[in-house]
Amino acid sequence: MKVSDNTFLGIEELIDSLDVPWDMQYNATTHSIFFTEIKGNISELDPETNKRKIIYTIPNVYHHRTLGLLGLAIHPDFKNKPYLYTCYTTKEGKNIFSELLRLRYEKGAIAETKVLLKIEGATGHNGSRLVFGKDDFLYWATGDAHSKTYAQDSTSLNGKILRMTDEGGIPSDNPIKGSYVYAWGFRNMQGLTVTSSGHIITSEHGDAIEDELNWIRPLHNYGWNKIEGYHDLPEEQEYAREHRTTEPIKSWTPVIAPAAVHYPLFNKIPEWKNSLLLGNLKDQSLRVLELDHSQTKVVNERIYLKDYYGRIRAITSDHKGNVYIATSNRDWKPQTNFPVAGDDRILRLSLIDFVPEHYQTAYEEKDLDMKSGKALYQAYCASCHGQDAKGAVGSIPSLRKTEWVKDESKFLDVVLNGLTSEIEVENVKYDQPMPAFNFLKDEEIAEITTYVRTNFGNTYSNISVGKVKDTRIKK
Ligand code: HEC
Repeated sequence: MKVSDNTFLGIEELIDSLDVPWDMQYNATTHSIFFTEIKGNISELDPETNKRKIIYTIPNVYHHRTLGLLGLAIHPDFKNKPYLYTCYTTKEGKNIFSELLRLRYEKGAIAETKVLLKIEGATGHNGSRLVFGKDDFLYWATGDAHSKTYAQDSTSLNGKILRMTDEGGIPSDNPIKGSYVYAWGFRNMQGLTVTSSGHIITSEHGDAIEDELNWIRPLHNYGWNKIEGYHDLPEEQEYAREHRTTEPIKSWTPVIAPAAVHYPLFNKIPEWKNSLLLGNLKDQSLRVLELDHSQTKVVNERIYLKDYYGRIRAITSDHKGNVYIATSNRDWKPQTNFPVAGDDRILRLSLIDFVPEHYQTAYEEKDLDMKSGKALYQAYCASCHGQDAKGAVGSIPSLRKTEWVKDESKFLDVVLNGLTSEIEVENVKYDQPMPAFNFLKDEEIAEITTYVRTNFGNTYSNISVGKVKDTRIKK
């Protein structure tokens, strides 16, 4: 892979045939990589020999769609405190929870475990990542559990950054006395890292638009679910004034589904100095976000590996400056052309001192021609319903000859207002929410809906701009 005329990276596969590696952390004490897989395994991988050992299987992980074994952190003083921390979903009767577990590592196995905290979970939006700050406290990025109120409620532990001691206690200097809550107003963070200056950075999935990158500070409110992305709408600006909310340092529309965010402390790639590495699911890329001197602004964005290895969910780096990425092509939302044989895999990116015969270059983002129905569909619908509109049985319904697509009014209603109730499509139940697209212009809604109604085997009439206008007015 080419970074510049002077810098080329080799890409080696360390291990393949994994099942959704979700989080991955290099451990400088053991010189090995620890990683989780969504169904419950925690493994240790030796990056010299590529030998992998499953060191523990969490017995009570509830895996369904995005739920399962998720984040992983390693104690910063591993020599004296050989602890791993992980979080995952569990189900007891009808109730779903997110559990935070501490595991004591001893001679290549887990000797003891202890649940440190258990919070409410849901069928989606459970977060979650873990990281130790420079202050040696553990930070947990939790999801809003699909709740309409939790993220803005400072007394709920969902939709928050929680801060705790390595024993799971509430630090005496937390900003709210006696509470784990450190910052709030989050939807579903999928990345968490600490920069060289100690700034805590999260990546977060937006609803239909506005993915976010946030710089986390104590007591700050990041706006969800009253504000999405930048404070750009009049009602958002009003809420921001009244509630003193904080804007993201970067936002992406159309969404890229950012997952892992990682700041390599021992980076040796000159062009990537002082940068965050961002692994993306929908965008199927590795983005390198160069920070300014103060590490509060993104000054440059480069896109690598676009559509090459598929979805990227986990990133870590070692003390020699090698970067490791893990793919996520066997998760609940398979994309066109993936998974391929051997997915999922962990790959190492390292500097090489020769120019290889074949290499990939950075991807130049084209200005999308966002007028055609096809481009709009790609930007706003394909990430869920698929390029082929087939959806994923049980998770996302198909858009091929369904009663909603066939019925003009029903179709417009769903697209404009979203759907939150359970529906049945072709005898299969769906219970995940569908976001509202009322922020799109009438012309855009007409283009998208017409495109869907005249493609994918659908042979229905066009939808006019007038019809979209009328539907909006009726609401
Ligand atoms: C974040 C994922 C997501 C995105 C993006 C999304 N949808 Fe959906 N969509 C869903 C889910 C989930 C349902 C089922 C909702 C439920 O169960 O209540 C759904 C349901 C539907 C339905 C009704 C059921 C059916 O299959 O006929 C239509 C029509 C639809 N979506 C069209 C669209 C269009 C058009 C776009 C782009 C403008 C879009 N969706 C974008 C997730 C998504």
